[in-house]
Amino acid sequence: MFGDGAQHLRQRRVERRIDTCGLRVRKTLEAFDWAFQKSLNRAVIEGLATLGFIDEREDLRITGKTGTGKSHILQALALRACEREIHVRYTRCVDLIEDLYAGLADQTYEARLRRWARAEWLIIDDVGLGQLRRRDDEPTAAHILFNLLDRRHEQAATALTSNIKLGEWGKYLGDATLAAAILDRLAMSSIRIDIDGPSYRDHLAKQRAKARGIVDDAA
Ligand SMILES: Nc1ncnc2c1ncn2[C@@H]1O[C@H](COP(=O)(O)OP(=O)(O)OP(=O)(O)O)[C@@H](O)[C@H]1O
Ligand SMILES: [Mg+2]
Repeated sequence: MFGDGAQHLRQRRVERRIDTCGLRVRKTLEAFDWAFQKSLNRAVIEGLATLGFIDEREDLRITGKTGTGKSHILQALALRACEREIHVRYTRCVDLIEDLYAGLADQTYEARLRRWARAEWLIIDDVGLGQLRRRDDEPTAAHILFNLLDRRHEQAATALTSNIKLGEWGKYLGDATLAAAILDRLAMSSIRIDIDGPSYRDHLAKQRAKARGIVDDAA
């Protein structure tokens, strides 16, 4: 009886975590089509799914072209982390930077930075996607990201994904030197995965077109 009650409470805590960690979709590794993404080493990802790297405070970097499953994998790992009651926070890079810019505008920057820095595992998804807006009197996104990652470095695990080349991070984030410093910290302890393969979105679009009997001229 007591066991059931405790289990129920635990499940409610897990659900609350999933609702508040920043995930907008629930992806799973079970739903991942490994055969489609052949270059991806399944054993490596399943090894990561034990989440040992979070305890080890290891950073994780996933790169690869658009649609190759980078976000899917991290969203699935985030869900597992919630199930283990790990304090995980998931955000897209643009949303993180926007949040901290908002903090600069209303004097809550430091408090917001501390909140992001506190997460046991922070996932910064889609570096390179979306326009980073910046006014002249504000620090660059590179500056903001550097501040955060420098606080977390060797203290807590951070994961990043990107579909732009590492050499383009400087241009995207607005400061080449700081972008290099971010990548340097990440390179020191990061598990690096590059997904060199086709886009699953493209695959789905082709399948749909085929199902409707539409011939894909571009293929
Ligand atoms: N191998 C796969 N098996 C099943 N679904 C997949 C697979 N790869 C990707 N998907 C699905 O395809 C869509 C695009 O994948 P995802 O968002 O993970 O790509 P991405 O690499 O993050 O792309 P981007 O660089 O544009 O952010 C998602 O809906 C995801 O669930
Ligand atoms: Mg993505």
